[in-house]
Amino acid sequence: MDKHLINRRQFSARCAAFGLIAAQAAAQGVDTGAASKPAARTVKLPGGAIVPALGQGCWHLGQGRHPIDVEEQALRTGISLGMTLLDTSGDYGSGRSEQFLKAVIADQRDRIFLVSKVETYEVSGDGIASACAASLARLGTGYLDLYLLHHPVPSAQFSGVVAAFEKLRAAGTIRAWGVSNFSLGQMEDLFRVPDGARCATNQVSYSLNNRGIERDLLPWCKQHNLPVMAYSPLGGDHNLVIGDRTLAQIGTAHGCSAAAVALAWVIRSGSVIAIPESGSPEHVKENAAALSIALTPQDFQTLNAAFPGPSGSQ
Ligand SMILES: NC(=O)c1ccc[n+]([C@@H]2O[C@H](COP(=O)([O-])OP(=O)(O)OC[C@H]3O[C@@H](n4cnc5c(N)ncnc54)[C@H](OP(=O)(O)O)[C@@H]3O)[C@@H](O)[C@H]2O)c1
Repeated sequence: MDKHLINRRQFSARCAAFGLIAAQAAAQGVDTGAASKPAARTVKLPGGAIVPALGQGCWHLGQGRHPIDVEEQALRTGISLGMTLLDTSGDYGSGRSEQFLKAVIADQRDRIFLVSKVETYEVSGDGIASACAASLARLGTGYLDLYLLHHPVPSAQFSGVVAAFEKLRAAGTIRAWGVSNFSLGQMEDLFRVPDGARCATNQVSYSLNNRGIERDLLPWCKQHNLPVMAYSPLGGDHNLVIGDRTLAQIGTAHGCSAAAVALAWVIRSGSVIAIPESGSPEHVKENAAALSIALTPQDFQTLNAAFPGPSGSQ
């Protein structure tokens, strides 16, 4: 047999090794120049972790929207293309999203940046620690890279929530914590409680057709060096922007899809992480292209005209 030929197992091992190198390069913002393009854009979290500006949302995954093997292939495709941040919640599909992820991350936990969430009804007493333990069991892992409070609780409860998160962080059960769906006023209240400024991100809805956070929250986060994690970055299931003709035209000029243009716009600043969801490998490939598109000043002007921001935004 030709000694240069390798068998299927060796081939898989080498592909896996390449994926790891690509993911590490992605985390460092390095372009390996290979066909499987890694993330060219990264975002630094306040604790120092560097994550790809494009992750993968997992809200509906593992719940029958697509065949399970297709969804697994979609996530693995995204990971190999540098979208190594995975966003889930103990609440998604009553835990089924996390259970589904267990199989995807089992053989590659060290290259995944894993984000999950705790619900408002779980925060009292030892609720955050218990919810986190339940998430870890479903995910089959010993730690979360980031744990978020899914929705705001009354500000009077912020110090208790932060203390519970900090306890988990000190124990190494979570590496960082953050919040989700917080308004500007709630962020200000959070930063006033002890250790509140250790918050790593605020995950909020942000897309071309939903630019409300540009009015006040986004500038405030930028001022405080706090990255924003944009959910529903394509507009969400019921308001998708990807059928828009302007986006399609810009995409044609860049050799990519309308979806990739929409995502490239969301991550344009270097301080926003977008987490589009897709259970389709083809869609994921389209989305990953957003990491390597350079929108031009003319593109931004055209997009601002087609999708105006709130008055006062830039
Ligand atoms: N913190 C919160 O309160 C909160 C709220 C909502 C969402 N989230 C997180 O954010 C993630 C994403 O948000 P989302 O699911 O609301 O909205 P989204 O990512 O804007 O849109 C998802 C939809 O877009 C489709 N899609 C994705 N890529 C596409 C492409 N290239 N071409 C055509 N269609 C495409 C998906 O269908 P296919 O599967 O068929 O591709 C799916 O129907 C969620 O999974 C979740 O992790 C968080």
